[in-house]
Amino acid sequence: MKKLEIKSTLTVFDTLDELPTEVASLMKKAVQARKNAYAPYSKFRVGAALELENGAIVVGNNQENAVYPSGLCAERVAIFQAGAIYPNIPIKRMAISASSDTFNVVTPIPPCGACRQSMYEYEENLKQPIELYFMGETGKVVKADSVQELLPLTFGKATLNNI
Ligand code: THU
Repeated sequence: MKKLEIKSTLTVFDTLDELPTEVASLMKKAVQARKNAYAPYSKFRVGAALELENGAIVVGNNQENAVYPSGLCAERVAIFQAGAIYPNIPIKRMAISASSDTFNVVTPIPPCGACRQSMYEYEENLKQPIELYFMGETGKVVKADSVQELLPLTFGKATLNNI
């Protein structure tokens, strides 16, 4: 018997101002997208903005539904949209911002497990790590160098192909 330790490394920026210019500008697009979220049930708004290797920017926000499980998170709306429009273009980075209509979101909001899994598919397929940056409305911004950093022990297509 032996124990394995899994380590993740994240970078924390104290404010938006500490981000490199191109990342700060992507985060602003996530903030803008967040404002158009359709979140009448949770009142929790999330915006995501992706920058692709060809320079294209693709945004998404959470889309809720009266049949609650039929809704979708911002990150998957954005990444599926990128997959639909630019199927073979690697994704450089994703910026995520969350706010609530009922309280002030001051802590960085990481993507949910299902979104991490969906994002990993693109990272694996396009053979390029996707940088992730996430924040609340204000405050610190957390960076992960890849989806895998937030999702160790990944189950991906390599698993299905016994690679
Ligand atoms: N949500 C996201 O858009 N992204 C996440 O990673 C977590 C949660 C949305 C889903 C739902 O509309 C609301 O936030 C509350 O869970």
